[in-house]
Amino acid sequence: MAAGKLKCIVITGVTRGLGRAMAEGFIARGHTIVGCGRSRDMIGELRQRHGPPHDFESLDVATDWQVQAWATRVLKTTGTPDLLLNNAALMNRNAPLWKLSADEFDPVIDVNIKGVTNVLRHFLPAMVARRSGVVVNFSSGRGRSTAPEVAPYCATKYAIEGLTLALAQELPSDMAAVPLNPGIIDTEMLRESFGDSAGSYPSAKEWSERAVPFLLQLGPEDNGKSLSVR
Ligand SMILES: NC(=O)c1ccc[n+]([C@@H]2O[C@H](COP(=O)([O-])OP(=O)(O)OC[C@H]3O[C@@H](n4cnc5c(N)ncnc54)[C@H](OP(=O)(O)O)[C@@H]3O)[C@@H](O)[C@H]2O)c1
Repeated sequence: MAAGKLKCIVITGVTRGLGRAMAEGFIARGHTIVGCGRSRDMIGELRQRHGPPHDFESLDVATDWQVQAWATRVLKTTGTPDLLLNNAALMNRNAPLWKLSADEFDPVIDVNIKGVTNVLRHFLPAMVARRSGVVVNFSSGRGRSTAPEVAPYCATKYAIEGLTLALAQELPSDMAAVPLNPGIIDTEMLRESFGDSAGSYPSAKEWSERAVPFLLQLGPEDNGKSLSVR
């Protein structure tokens, strides 16, 4: 991607947290955002705030047919993404692994691994056909080292590292796929795990001031690197 070119950027999980902050940051720089999240209210608010060419849709990334319908429409109306950010994810309730029911474990796998794959399955063919674009799959410090009480989340973020590094070996040479550890940021997800001590970390808006320029300069030379936002 040429530096400075205005991009079409797909972001999953734009209704709050890092996704929302990135969307606002990219829009402020003139880029076009295609975003999704489950909350109908927040998607409605985003539509009100940012009209076309930006495009926001309420859907669950864990449901393959919803992602397929979304991608088919977006590829026709907005075009092929230059940057695809798989940001949407869930955190498990803090607990030892054996104390988490199947109903608590399964959605973490469904959203954090299958959801990412659904998005790749339906957007990547157009990007590969055009032989350009960057895929960023949100990983975590917990995709590179472990901690107690977050085993399901760790399992999914280790999976994201492996999935993304293997994908990087499959892409045409002028594309890139990277797993990204965003750092530690005060969002609803962090509060689920850290409680009030999450408040000692940067806000999503503060983080996005570093993350947005970092993401915009990624290119084929980054393919297959496990990156972090510094
Ligand atoms: N915050 C941190 O310190 C931190 C650290 C390391 C990694 N990360 C990673 O960074 C990413 C963003 O985290 P965050 O802290 O911003 O989390 P967050 O505040 O909980 O936001 C998560 C976003 O994902 C969306 N989402 C969740 N399930 C979805 C689904 N099934 N379909 C569509 N959208 C869905 C949520 O919207 P709806 O509820 O409206 O669907 C929300 O917009 C995640 O991949 C996370 O693992 C965060």
